Amino acid sequence: MSGSPQQGTTLTLRGLRHAFGGQVVLNDVDLTVPAGTITALLGPSGCGKSTLLKAVAGLLRLQSGTIQFDDQFMCNGTVFEPPESRGLGMVFQDYALWPHMTVEGNVGFPLRMRRVTRTERERRVADALRMVGLASHGQRRPAQLSGGQQQRVALARAIVAQPRVLLFDEPLSNLDRNLRETLCREIGDLLGKLGITAIYVTHDHDEARALAHQIAHMDQGRITRITTA
Ligand SMILES: Nc1ncnc2c1ncn2[C@@H]1O[C@H](COP(=O)(O)OP(=O)(O)OP(=O)(O)O)[C@@H](O)[C@H]1O
Ligand SMILES: [Mg+2]
Repeated sequence: MSGSPQQGTTLTLRGLRHAFGGQVVLNDVDLTVPAGTITALLGPSGCGKSTLLKAVAGLLRLQSGTIQFDDQFMCNGTVFEPPESRGLGMVFQDYALWPHMTVEGNVGFPLRMRRVTRTERERRVADALRMVGLASHGQRRPAQLSGGQQQRVALARAIVAQPRVLLFDEPLSNLDRNLRETLCREIGDLLGKLGITAIYVTHDHDEARALAHQIAHMDQGRITRITTA
């Protein structure tokens, strides 16, 4: 991608705690994701993985704990930065593309929100699409793409605004095994090239090992151990 992305943000989570009703879903979570590295978050259904991502994204206001991007607090007892000012990209399991927009429209959307000029937008959208191998698909609509291609569009949209941090929530679990392996490799290469700090939620141990620098194992709202991949 042209222009230098904001590389090297260290993510520091301390004492994250959240309960829904009486159920404690995040229980004193501490995690550091070193600058430019990928941490996989692995654990059984319902253990709190997506809730943790939502807290980092600012889609959930935690009951307590602090989140820092480098030395800047995203939330603590007094500060709460809204999602749009955190400098994040997100990729979900269900792609979440807008069906009525072309591929270019989808990828360019975060730049339109930031009022990036049209010329600059076109250049950056083309760059992002080239990086995910979809340079010639800009005029298609999501329904005219395969599942793997749709997820590549979602990836291009996540990186186009040069985020500090990328969050992935089981992005490949709707795809078949071969495609999962290919895309997993591509995501790893891309993140390595861009040097963006990332948290990658998955159920799949192989995916976690292939991609991540460290694996945080989560169970019932706690991080039970951290292993280096
Ligand atoms: N908005 C909410 N209101 C009430 N309970 C919630 C809410 N969001 C999540 N929960 C509960 O919190 C727990 C953790 O949910 P979360 O979505 O974080 O799990 P997960 O680890 O991502 O699971 P999966 O692997 O199935 O996606 C679950 O018991 C869930 O039912
Ligand atoms: Mg989840």
